[in-house]
Amino acid sequence: MLRPFCLLAASLVSTAWSNPVLHGLQVLEHRDAPPRGFVHGGPASPDTMLSLRLALKQNNMDGLIEALYDVSTPSSAKYGQHLSKYEVEEYVSPTSMTIAAVNAWLSENNVTATTISPAGDWLAITLPVSQANSMLDADFSVFTHQESGHQSVRTLSYSIPSDLVSHLDLIHPTVTFTPPSAALPLQVTKYTGTTKKATSANDPVGNCPDDYVDADCIETLYNMPDTVPALSNNYIAVTGYNNYYANEADLDYFLQWLRYGYPDDLMFTVETLDGGQNDQTEDDSGTEANLDTQYTTGLATYVPVTFLSVGQNNTDGVFGFLDVANYFLDMETPPSVITTSYGSNEEYLSTNVAYALCNAYAQLGARGVSVLYSSGDGGVSGTQNQSCTTFVPSFPSGCPYVTSVGATTDLQPEVAASFSSGGFSNYWATPSFQQSAVSNYLSYLGSTNAGLYNASGRGFPDVSAQGVDIMIAQYQEFYLVDGTSCSSPIFASVVGMLNNQLISAGKSTLGWLNPFLYSTGASALTDITSGNNPGCGTNSFSATTGWDPVTGLGTPNYTLLYSAVGL
Ligand SMILES: *[C@@H]1O[C@H](CO)[C@@H](O)[C@H](O)[C@H]1NC(C)=O
Ligand SMILES: *[C@@H]1O[C@H](CO)[C@@H](O)[C@H](O)[C@H]1NC(C)=O
Ligand SMILES: *[C@@H]1O[C@H](CO)[C@@H](O)[C@H](O)[C@H]1NC(C)=O
Ligand SMILES: *[C@@H]1O[C@H](CO)[C@@H](O)[C@H](O)[C@H]1NC(C)=O
Ligand SMILES: *[C@@H]1O[C@H](CO)[C@@H](O)[C@H](O)[C@H]1NC(C)=O
Repeated sequence: MLRPFCLLAASLVSTAWSNPVLHGLQVLEHRDAPPRGFVHGGPASPDTMLSLRLALKQNNMDGLIEALYDVSTPSSAKYGQHLSKYEVEEYVSPTSMTIAAVNAWLSENNVTATTISPAGDWLAITLPVSQANSMLDADFSVFTHQESGHQSVRTLSYSIPSDLVSHLDLIHPTVTFTPPSAALPLQVTKYTGTTKKATSANDPVGNCPDDYVDADCIETLYNMPDTVPALSNNYIAVTGYNNYYANEADLDYFLQWLRYGYPDDLMFTVETLDGGQNDQTEDDSGTEANLDTQYTTGLATYVPVTFLSVGQNNTDGVFGFLDVANYFLDMETPPSVITTSYGSNEEYLSTNVAYALCNAYAQLGARGVSVLYSSGDGGVSGTQNQSCTTFVPSFPSGCPYVTSVGATTDLQPEVAASFSSGGFSNYWATPSFQQSAVSNYLSYLGSTNAGLYNASGRGFPDVSAQGVDIMIAQYQEFYLVDGTSCSSPIFASVVGMLNNQLISAGKSTLGWLNPFLYSTGASALTDITSGNNPGCGTNSFSATTGWDPVTGLGTPNYTLLYSAVGL
């Protein structure tokens, strides 16, 4: 029986498939062992209920990627002509044949599915472990993340009827193992020096303090304008996870002390997802959330900022990243920039799950959204500083459709911050836009680190920005923060301000940045040429002339970017 769903109506299919045992099952995903840091702790109880998601085959993902390159490559005739929500959904919605095939299989197993993405390419189902084990020829077991003690129910392998392999990309969470949180390891110290309170507009512009970096200093360093005209239809979204709350009083304090002359009423707005909250109790404020909102609202002055507070009430198996992508894809007018200072190790996600999320970022890019992520804080040892024998790429920095931001320190000149994660993906090959940048770096590298990294992988980060001794307000005091967590919101502010000026000039927003950054944008960045990101017992990669897997193409120079984007 060959692909009966193409020919038969759903009711006939049920009849034809009345005996599931006749179907050949085929392994869809498997791993030999859980990723490092997770241990197997015996079978899961048969009546534990599982919430699973099914990714249906999108009807024309290749077409969407081609359209994405067309609208994002400066030399293309279609540059800037971003797609509407409807146009993107035309590419990614599954065919009616796919929907019928998957639903017929589910209903034959008495499982009811709910559609959970705007294009209909994701379904959610709930079923007990016993049924999932037989239906998917799986072995759902309890696995423990050793460092946190967090337990999850996963399987090392699962299968689907072979007739469905062309209709179903993955069932999840199954072979993806993630720690309970995607938080990056911020280093935070209380500031004990003297804060120089700004006393007039532009002060202390051109005069960065010796012992910290603040928003005025970054504005000067990167030649950013003081303000841009307010536009209500262009905004930056900051995503926050784990119920780390962004505190409004702390932003006020930050603005009062460090941004004299700016209106007192500059404030982010808050949206919530997956049970996220907006708790304004001062003691409950989160360092990461304060950092990310202060270095967007307080830096890209007048560009509206939305803080999306994502709670832990998600079952998406990837920290909420999938729910967040679908949340933005469902909007008619999504933000022009999304910045996320969270991440994970690539190896925790199955390739299929990693590709599915990356495809969602491609869809956002096609809509005209720049998706920025911090590169991670463990140098070449991944998002965390951990033991390793080969370099650990971070996620989602390896996805070509996100712009990965590394960290720098010092001012004249800037140098790479030693914790700045960078390297080469094992999941995505080097994309065309960075082929020559990467091959130049590999020639420079020669045989150094041979065998420790994937020379045919997508290189990251793409760009970088300040990430050491960044001054934030918290508990109505000042703290200094280190991490690529600082760098992504700073770069997002640059992009948000450029977008505002582009829209004011009747042009379109920048959207997916990478093809621009590696072509006409490269000379508008300040190349960082010293420093390295040690890890795994090596000196790993060094910054050098041109792109490098520590600081990417470099840090922003607003004056030059302004011309490079055609303003
Ligand atoms: C589905 O439900 C029907 C009616 O309750 C039952 O006869 C059938 O055996 C069930 N099928 C499966 C695969 O559980
Ligand atoms: C989390 O989800 C559960 C089940 O859907 C619901 O009862 C609970 O109210 C949610 N919690 C929050 C904080 O939204
Ligand atoms: C990583 O951890 C080691 C040992 O704990 C420490 O010596 C090193 O400084 C850390 N590196 C970074 C980049 O944090
Ligand atoms: C290296 O990257 C390539 C291209 O993405 C991939 O096909 C290959 O499997 C990777 N190698 C390893 C060892 O992960
Ligand atoms: C940024 O570009 C301007 C214009 O070319 C130049 O004057 C300035 O020195 C540059 N800034 C840095 C930090 O390179």
